Amino acid sequence: MSKVTVVGAGNVGATCANVLAFNEVADEVVMLDVKEGVSEGKAMDMMQTAQLLGFDSTVVGCTNDYEKTANSDVVVITSGIPRKPGMTREELIGVNAGIVKSVAQNILKYSPNAILVVISNPMDTMTYLSLKSLGVAKNRIIGMGGALDSSRFKYFLSQALGCNANEVEGMVIGGHGDTTMIPLARLATYKGIPVSKLLSAEKLQEVVSSTMVGGATLTKLLGTSAWYAPGAAGAFVVESILHNQKKMIPSCVALDGEYGQSDICIGVPAIIGRNGVEKIVELDLTADEKALFEKSAAAVRATNAALKEVGAL
Ligand code: 2OP
Repeated sequence: MSKVTVVGAGNVGATCANVLAFNEVADEVVMLDVKEGVSEGKAMDMMQTAQLLGFDSTVVGCTNDYEKTANSDVVVITSGIPRKPGMTREELIGVNAGIVKSVAQNILKYSPNAILVVISNPMDTMTYLSLKSLGVAKNRIIGMGGALDSSRFKYFLSQALGCNANEVEGMVIGGHGDTTMIPLARLATYKGIPVSKLLSAEKLQEVVSSTMVGGATLTKLLGTSAWYAPGAAGAFVVESILHNQKKMIPSCVALDGEYGQSDICIGVPAIIGRNGVEKIVELDLTADEKALFEKSAAAVRATNAALKEVGAL
């Protein structure tokens, strides 16, 4: 019997729960929200699709009742406010830090062995906050930004190449911010062919830029932040954990000397399996990529420093 809790039944949380149920990733999916009735309603709505879509997973909703989340194998945290057009993810820290910290603490009371997947923004800092405030082993805390950003990168690459996005490989490392993420164009391939052989340097730069502001572009179009890909990216990470798929997923993880960094959570490729972060993969970065990574880490550190200012750490 596998159980996943999704905290926050807003657009991202509900999408994540829906993907988890539809794909039968977990036997039971619990959605918890602070808004009376919302997660119960969304859970019932999803359960009424079970016969239409043919899935057997159960979705349960609850209003702030952490007992219902007890003994979850994996918990996805989407709580907090999303960004509005023109806002950066980093601006959300004041409101979201307190929310994420108390959610994470409540979750651990009822699921002391759960692996946490953090989606709330600013994601790298919320992942770091969870790690620091919970004091659990670092393999159990994973931020999902890299899965989302890499999927966006592959989308923009496939658009530029005019090909199927499933035939493209590409990774985004660094922070999950408009100026901190690093799409690794050098390592991106189409059926094993380096994309640099297929696209001009100018076109490739356009793809990189579109990827970096991928979230902001959607926020502008939608009036709030995106949810289909963020929710699905969360579910993708959960599946690799729960089904012990050991996929290599660029993920926000705690570094302890890897990539020359420590005391930080930031995006790097990691093997994600039943133990959470099973291995950090150290890429051989070029000098330019290393410089970008260091700049990204400095920016993430600056946002982490604000956790003290808002009294969260
Ligand atoms: C995004 O990039 C919500 O941060 C998320 O869309």
